[in-house]
Amino acid sequence: MFLHLKNILTQDEIQAARALLGADAPWIDGRSSAGGQALAQKRNEQLAQDSAQSQQLRALVLTALQRDPLFFSAALPKKIFNPLFNRYSGDSNFYGAHVDGAVLRSKSPDQWVRSDISCTLFLAQPDEYEGGELRIQEAHSERHVKLPAGDLVLYPSSTVHQVAPVTSGARIASFFWIESMVRSTEQRLLLWNMDMHLLKLRSQVGEHDAAVVGLTGTYHNLLRMWADA
Ligand code: NI
Repeated sequence: MFLHLKNILTQDEIQAARALLGADAPWIDGRSSAGGQALAQKRNEQLAQDSAQSQQLRALVLTALQRDPLFFSAALPKKIFNPLFNRYSGDSNFYGAHVDGAVLRSKSPDQWVRSDISCTLFLAQPDEYEGGELRIQEAHSERHVKLPAGDLVLYPSSTVHQVAPVTSGARIASFFWIESMVRSTEQRLLLWNMDMHLLKLRSQVGEHDAAVVGLTGTYHNLLRMWADA
């Protein structure tokens, strides 16, 4: 399931995030957090997780995610890995093809998170850098993703993906993983589609239409059957 959610962050939040990621930000070598397979092909920088900036930025991102009903419907999150932040620029400018680890240790809170969904929240505008697309392999094609600052992409953590070299400017983003209440991508996609159609139907015929009430019940009963909360 591939999904683009727009305007997760407000313009004020983007500015606040960028200020925290400015000249004083403690960037470290991104390889410090890479596993074996990723080590050879990861060249980027990551914000030191124990920094004051990281703490404020994590709170900013999590607050934004939690107020967004579309994010909740799409991800049905059980656990969210503490958001991390990276920068691709200069000589540290790419992350070659890889698959994200299946089970990852989040620091804040300290917990294991199974990666069902991978997320990138863009924090730089597309015209601030050349290259730097997130390239996600799909069954018969490759999807190239480069979104406006404040927009979020969700994709299955099972996919092979990479960040293409940034040839000028700097690509700054937040990234994190979600363990969903609904483990199956297919089931999650059915629930998401049903929820989106129900939204439309409610706006056309109202909350109390008998079919809307019935279908809403079906949605919740499917979720009850599939969710591990
Ligand atoms: Ni990755």
